[in-house]
Amino acid sequence: MADRIFSGIRPSGKLHLGNYLGAIKNWIELQNSPDTERAIFAVVDYHGITTPFDPETYRQQTLDTVLDFLAIGIDPKKSLLIRQSHIPEHTELAWIFNTITPVSWLERLPTYKEKLEESGKKYNHVGLLDYPVLMAADILIYKSNLVPIGDDQKAHIDITNEIAKKFNHMFGETFEPVKAYKAEGERIKSLQDSAKKMSKSGDEGIALIDFPDVIREKIKKAVTDSGHEVIFDPDKKPAISNLITIYHLLIKEVQPREPKEVEPLKFGIREIEKKYSGKTYIEFKNDLAEIIVNFLKPFQEKRKELEQDMTYVEDVLTESEEKAKLIASSTLTEIKQKMGL
Ligand code: TYM
Repeated sequence: MADRIFSGIRPSGKLHLGNYLGAIKNWIELQNSPDTERAIFAVVDYHGITTPFDPETYRQQTLDTVLDFLAIGIDPKKSLLIRQSHIPEHTELAWIFNTITPVSWLERLPTYKEKLEESGKKYNHVGLLDYPVLMAADILIYKSNLVPIGDDQKAHIDITNEIAKKFNHMFGETFEPVKAYKAEGERIKSLQDSAKKMSKSGDEGIALIDFPDVIREKIKKAVTDSGHEVIFDPDKKPAISNLITIYHLLIKEVQPREPKEVEPLKFGIREIEKKYSGKTYIEFKNDLAEIIVNFLKPFQEKRKELEQDMTYVEDVLTESEEKAKLIASSTLTEIKQKMGL
């Protein structure tokens, strides 16, 4: 099967370990998969303006996110990297989808309710409600069928499929079903409150560009559960289980590849529990901090190099956006024909 991959991230703040483990890790895996026909990754800057943003710095923030993509391992030879606002077909298709999407589908979404609460109900504009329709357009304008995302975006994939089904029914078979591709790290929790997901703010998350000492400090301050045993039990010990998940997923990436025969066994959750049996949270946390620091080191070095070569970054975007635009405009032409536009 030839998969057509699409995914996106808002440029609202620094990327964090949740973004990496819940989404980008799989972007890299999928771009390298022989089953992938094409992969498109977007900085969704039109989504980013549905919550407060600073126009003075927003363009730079978008470019910073592209730098992050490149430095972490998105390969422009295998994937297209685009800015959503540079391909107007996304918003044009979103308008068309607006005319077939019942408001009630959007009003009941948890993400909408959360964002509304977060803003103290001050930000109840149409864009916030309509956010998933634009997301459906992002995915379907490229006729994508596989979307690597974290757990919080799952409901948006359901809506995408509802919209696609309704469009097919009204105007003729056009879109195939879309599947969410979810990661083991699909829901990385906040380091301060394991009832919340890791986000971009303060000590709650680890930004990919955090300095080593900042990382050590944040892990030291991360909340733990009562007791002192390093045991994976998401119900009874959600905080330490979250840290074990991060440990488990990152150690695979920092350990030397050789010797191959012992590698897979060493990193399972049970092996981690065994390694820290009889040891304290502090010992476990110290090791975890070093794993994160080591994991991020090559990324941070690569990012510094790329910062010196913004012409390269701009060239990657221009080339990707030209190619993406060809696919997007061909889908839009087909749709307009079907609709008599
Ligand atoms: P955004 O920018 O909030 O997050 C980007 C990706 O990171 C994942 N993620 C997490 N995964 C695990 N644990 C966490 N704590 C965590 N926090 C964030 C998200 O699930 C997401 O995959 N609406 C989207 C952006 C978007 C999009 C699209 C995605 C717009 N159009 C089309 C896919 C396809 C969003 O706001 O993601």
